[in-house]
Amino acid sequence: MSVVAQPVAPVAPPVNTAPRISTAELRTALPLVSVRGLRVAYDERPVLDAVDLDLFPGEIVALLGASGSGKSTLMKSLTGFAPVSAGSVRVAGHDLTNLGRGELRGLRSEVGQVFQQFNLIPRLSVLTNVLTGALHGAGAINLVGGFSTAHRQRALALLDRVGIAHKAKDPARSLSGGQQQRVAIARALMQRPRIILADEPVASLDPKLAGSVLELLREIAVEDGIPVLVSLHVLPLAREYSDRIVGLRGGEMLVSGRTSSLSAGDLAVLYESADEDPDAAGEAAHAHHDA
Ligand SMILES: Nc1ncnc2c1ncn2[C@@H]1O[C@H](COP(=O)(O)OP(=O)(O)O)[C@@H](O)[C@H]1O
Ligand SMILES: [Mg+2]
Repeated sequence: MSVVAQPVAPVAPPVNTAPRISTAELRTALPLVSVRGLRVAYDERPVLDAVDLDLFPGEIVALLGASGSGKSTLMKSLTGFAPVSAGSVRVAGHDLTNLGRGELRGLRSEVGQVFQQFNLIPRLSVLTNVLTGALHGAGAINLVGGFSTAHRQRALALLDRVGIAHKAKDPARSLSGGQQQRVAIARALMQRPRIILADEPVASLDPKLAGSVLELLREIAVEDGIPVLVSLHVLPLAREYSDRIVGLRGGEMLVSGRTSSLSAGDLAVLYESADEDPDAAGEAAHAHHDA
């Protein structure tokens, strides 16, 4: 019933797009993220178990699963914010299970993040919000002197890229949700990230805007070769915009495959009550905390 987790082959280019890197390069590309046998437990209660994940340059991977299935925890484990109790996690050349403090900061500066609530500073201008992305470069900027002209130019170019350069001087709070998420994406790009993690980035947007934000994330993956991991709870959006789908239920990875090869039935298992299928769900799904 559940889809067997296939060993993930080096990816082919996304459908309907012309990647800047050639197919041959993609095939030989090393994954920027490589997770094997990941287990995360809070108070000895497993919330992720035996999870494998690869992210290759240029691809957008959808992370699916019901609320509480472990999507955010999986993302946190990629930036050292989740207690990994077994398995290996490699991100952009860093081994997260064996990482010094300084290296952890370096790693976080290489991971661009986008959140459901945008997490902008509402009263600051759009441009300044984007500029704060440069602060992730581990103390590279002396704030007493302000941001450099080069930083400002880059921030403006990124705003242009995401289609809202004309809003640069407006306070972030004056923008619509879709525009705010574009600012957040520009801010993530300001970091020059090697990967992008987007945790439910379109959950607060209406469907039309949701599509355009996902289209932007896909463009970034393809044009910049930056892999994007995006958690979604709307299946049609995952089908339309992702190259691959990884599906969690009760902390276990029940689905992993190319989006084009997964049927609706393959994905339905993610939204069945875990209690109805104890064998597939395992212990993680049964150990509930009082919510
Ligand atoms: N800091 C934490 N302490 C204890 N339990 C947590 C913590 N973070 C997440 N969990 C639990 O882990 C499970 C997965 O949560 P989460 O990763 O947020 O799921 P999702 O993002 O798919 O909704 C949930 O049961 C949640 O209650
Ligand atoms: Mg979540």
